[in-house]
Amino acid sequence: MATTPTENRGTWNTKFGFILAAAGSAVGLGNIWRFPTEAASNGGAAFLIIYIICVTLIGLPVMIAELSIGRSTQKNPVGAFKALSTNKFFPLVGFWGVLCGVMILSFYTIIAGWTFSHVFVEIFTFAGWHSAAELLADSENGWINAIFAMLFMGLTIVIIRGGVSEGIERATKLMMPLLVFILVIMTLYVVFQPGAAEGLEVYLKPDFSMITGELVLAALGQAFFSLSLGMGALITYGSYLSKKENIVEAASFVTLADVGIAFLAGLLIMPTIFLAQAQGVEIYDETGNFLAGPALIFQILPELFSQMGGFLGLTIGISFFFLLSLAALTSTISLLEVPTSYIIDEHGVRRKKAALYVGLTVLALSIIISFNTGLIGDIDYIFSVIGLPLGGLLICIFIGYFWKTRSAVDEMKNGFKDIRDSWFTTVWSVFIKFICPIIIVIILAQTIFG
Ligand code: PHE
Repeated sequence: MATTPTENRGTWNTKFGFILAAAGSAVGLGNIWRFPTEAASNGGAAFLIIYIICVTLIGLPVMIAELSIGRSTQKNPVGAFKALSTNKFFPLVGFWGVLCGVMILSFYTIIAGWTFSHVFVEIFTFAGWHSAAELLADSENGWINAIFAMLFMGLTIVIIRGGVSEGIERATKLMMPLLVFILVIMTLYVVFQPGAAEGLEVYLKPDFSMITGELVLAALGQAFFSLSLGMGALITYGSYLSKKENIVEAASFVTLADVGIAFLAGLLIMPTIFLAQAQGVEIYDETGNFLAGPALIFQILPELFSQMGGFLGLTIGISFFFLLSLAALTSTISLLEVPTSYIIDEHGVRRKKAALYVGLTVLALSIIISFNTGLIGDIDYIFSVIGLPLGGLLICIFIGYFWKTRSAVDEMKNGFKDIRDSWFTTVWSVFIKFICPIIIVIILAQTIFG
């Protein structure tokens, strides 16, 4: 039996708390390692510019769309589609979002576990316990992967069990400012190192000849993943938002925070790659491409930290991996909240139980993946590269042609009275009905058949 919405559902205490939680969902591993390496291998600032365009033209409108659906229905993604239309297909879209959340979380937890284990790798390396450090740093060791995945999931479950304001909001309110603080300090340190200029140049000097269809697709995919769009994370977060708040303004803040942090992460990582190269660390693979993704973060950077030597290397190393762990945790929280809210709303299970059951189910998947890390690429491809834009496309179609943009604008009017009379309504509606779906279809077609 379904519970009444007020029984188990929570609300954000403050608007600021909500914005931090949503920004916490958005800011994650996607910003701090995926964005800088995508930029590095795609023409530096040229990628940055296209990325910002994608975020503004597609990401922001879809984020506003998700928040409107969530706040209007005060429900999880499946319940939200059920509440807004009698069409039987769209609850499946919500369910697809829940599934994407579960599957993305199952591998995200492992990568998050790697970031956390590297805090200890740094300490062990400093202490001279090299075999212990090597053991922890071995990403192929299933047991180590599983243990850190358990730790990370355990922490996520504890926070989700705490509820919306006492768990998610309190935790992210503490973690987000800390994350920004560590990131700014580290970036300032790196940017002023002798030799940082080369990296900054690659990052900030646009090479427009690099702009290709492929780059645009990469930027769009990155926008979906990084802004946590397409799987109902923001429908869920929006469902706890008070009618007093201005959705358009909140979405703009979250988008700005996400882009700002990705930009800062680029300022930190790009010069660091070149500083590492100056120290003799190999930064290209056999094919001449940047060692992107895990190799960059878990090989190049630790080597640099240890070459810096002494206490400085240790401090920077620990801070960096701690920063990444925080960013990952505020994202795993939102990934677990989506299926948890679905179980609470649709199956009437209490929050504490729901968080535990869902968390343990995802953990079981994570443990399987711990021993088969080769699966990560495939799961990522199906559920984030394809899954999120597909979800985003269906959300646009739902609003544009079923729920209607007019109803969404009515929802936005709560907290933004003048919106009806502003140009924004028309522009947003055109984007949701035509521009976003068309562009997403093009990306999907390219990704699948290209
Ligand atoms: N946005 C997160 C990141 O950049 C990942 C994420 C995707 C979180 C989808 C929630 C939903 O790491």
